[in-house]
This record gives sequence, structure tokens and C-alpha cells, in this order.
Amino acid sequence: MQCNAEAVACADVVVLCTPWAQTEAAIRSCGDLTGRIVLDCTNPLNADATELAVGHTTSGAELVARWAAGARVCKAMNQIGAPMMAHPVFDADPVMFVCADDPAAKDVVIQLVAGLGFDPVDIGDLSLARLLEPFALLWIHLALRCGFGTDFGFATLRSTR
Ligand SMILES: NC(=O)c1ccc[n+]([C@@H]2O[C@H](COP(=O)([O-])OP(=O)(O)OC[C@H]3O[C@@H](n4cnc5c(N)ncnc54)[C@H](OP(=O)(O)O)[C@@H]3O)[C@@H](O)[C@H]2O)c1
Repeated sequence: MQCNAEAVACADVVVLCTPWAQTEAAIRSCGDLTGRIVLDCTNPLNADATELAVGHTTSGAELVARWAAGARVCKAMNQIGAPMMAHPVFDADPVMFVCADDPAAKDVVIQLVAGLGFDPVDIGDLSLARLLEPFALLWIHLALRCGFGTDFGFATLRSTR
């Protein structure tokens, strides 16, 4: 798609939020992503969002990094529902785990995530997406199959002792 390449050409951060089945094609239509920060919000879900298509020894984020050769891929914003993304309103800040191989790109994403009202937690390099994508599947299970609905997020509690 020509419009994808045009959008990427003037973007400081490229936010990837495509259905998993369309993700590789969307990335390839973006042109050269070398040096770009790509915020990967996708989850590599099967058709009915009950299972991950990849996991254990790789992750969607690592495949995204392979397809977007040279891009600085960060994983975040996959562990919350779309209705709560822009303006999370909770009693406490919901946590947002972030991982990436490029520390400077990760810092940018952490600032963006904090600016949206999340409590960003740096969990390490991009391979930690192998934990974040199953974690998102837990969010989906709670939302769709356990009656939570979409207006909830996860938070961390730290002991005050
Ligand atoms: N929905 C959520 O609550 C949520 C939360 C966290 C993460 N995610 C993840 O985010 C991703 C998107 O989920 P969604 O629920 O937002 O899906 P969606 O409502 O189906 O939206 C998908 C978007 O991707 C676009 N798209 C599809 N193919 C494209 C391509 N080749 N190039 C550019 N754009 C393309 C579509 O554009 P057109 O409409 O123009 O086709 C549409 O805007 C999934 O991987 C999902 O797991 C979703």
C-alpha cells in the first residue's frame, strides 16, 4: 500500500496494530524501516483469539523484527484493550510491560506509554515478548470468556515492607 510507505516516511514512531494474518504484508508495504522505531501492539492470535500462532521459542515481536529488517522494534500496548488505550481511567495506573533490544527506542516508547497514563515497566530485550503475548491472551480470555469486559487492565502491587 502506497499510503503505508508515505505514513512511515514522516513518522518518528510507527505503531503496528494490524491483525496478525495481515501483519507481514503490512510491514512489507511500509518500505525501508531501517532505523525507525516500530511499536508492535499486535498479538499473533489464531482466528478465534483462543491461541497464539507462535510462542515458546519465538514471538510475534521477533517475527516483526525479522520482517521489518533494521527497524528498532519495541513490544508494548498489546496487554490492554483498545477502549482503554488512549485514556485509561482506573484507581491506579495500569501496568504496561515494554521490551525491546534498542535501549534508546525503548526509552521513547516508555515515555509514550507513560504519557498515555500507564505505569511502564521495562522487562528487557525483545525476546521477552514471548511472555507478553501469552499475557495478552490471558487479558483476552478474561475479557471475552470470564465476564471482565474490555474496561480493565493489569497493575503491579509492590510491598511497602
Ligand atoms: N482490539 C484490541 O483491544 C487490541 C488490544 C491490544 C492489541 N491488539 C492487537 O492489535 C491488532 C489489531 O487489532 P484490532 O482489534 O485493532 O483489529 P481491527 O479492528 O481489525 O483493525 C485492524 C486495522 O489494521 C488495518 N490493516 C489491515 N491490513 C493492513 C495493511 N496491510 N496495511 C495497513 N493497515 C492494515 C485495518 O485497516 P482497514 O480498516 O483500512 O483495512 C484496520 O485499521 C491485533 O494484532 C490485535 O491482537 C488489539
